[in-house]
Amino acid sequence: MANQNSLEHLWMPFSANRDFKSSPRLMNEGEGMYYKKQDGTPVLDGTAGLWCCNAGHANKKIVNAIREQASKLDFAPSFQMGHPLGFEAAQKLLQIAPSNDFQYVFFTNSGSESVDTALKIALGYQQHLGNSDKTILVGRNRAYHGVGFGGISVGGLAYNKIHFSLLNNVDHICDTHSLEKNAFSKGQPDWGKELADDLLRVIEKHGADQIAAFITEPVAGSTGVLVPPKGYLERIREICTEHNILLIF
Ligand SMILES: Cc1ncc(COP(=O)(O)O)c(C=O)c1O
Repeated sequence: MANQNSLEHLWMPFSANRDFKSSPRLMNEGEGMYYKKQDGTPVLDGTAGLWCCNAGHANKKIVNAIREQASKLDFAPSFQMGHPLGFEAAQKLLQIAPSNDFQYVFFTNSGSESVDTALKIALGYQQHLGNSDKTILVGRNRAYHGVGFGGISVGGLAYNKIHFSLLNNVDHICDTHSLEKNAFSKGQPDWGKELADDLLRVIEKHGADQIAAFITEPVAGSTGVLVPPKGYLERIREICTEHNILLIF
């Protein structure tokens, strides 16, 4: 029988569980930029949740919208049924998308699910076009793409991979981290655009006709914040277009 007051029974991801539970940091409330601990001590939330509370905690507009919708309809299945607001949200997203090339929206529940879904859509897209050899997915060293099998496979964090057998058809290009060249850069580093050409090495190794997609974080977050060098992402875009490889951000 579980002890109701014990922290023992919840496994926390990416956390040293024993250490945390011996000296827990439990946040009980939040407002604006601050959490409040159980004893009332405010804590500045420097990461906006995990980058998912960017409009501030307990933002009145958001709280009211959630409250209003939950009291009207909490859930309608997305298989064979729908809800008008889902369609409205898709249209609103497209209105703020960077170009008219974006025409369709697929909603998911988390970053990990988004990544695995995007990889599956990329493979499905290539198959559908008759490019049945385009099955390789390329990621980048040091990348974090969540906790799904696909995301761990294209990710570049060795420690996350040691306990699992993962996708086979995966390769990686080099990352852009260079203390030697880019330490103390402000904004986008001047050096490193040419690192994008490592994608050409992987294309030469496998053949462009074997590669379905390349996935990268525009600004890597979980491996230390790696801001892309000036011109790097533009060069990646160019190479992908030239070799008919889908680019997933
Ligand atoms: C680039 C990237 N992809 C995927 C994920 C996984 O997102 P989630 O924790 O919502 O599954 C994260 C989370 O930090 C991320 O930074």
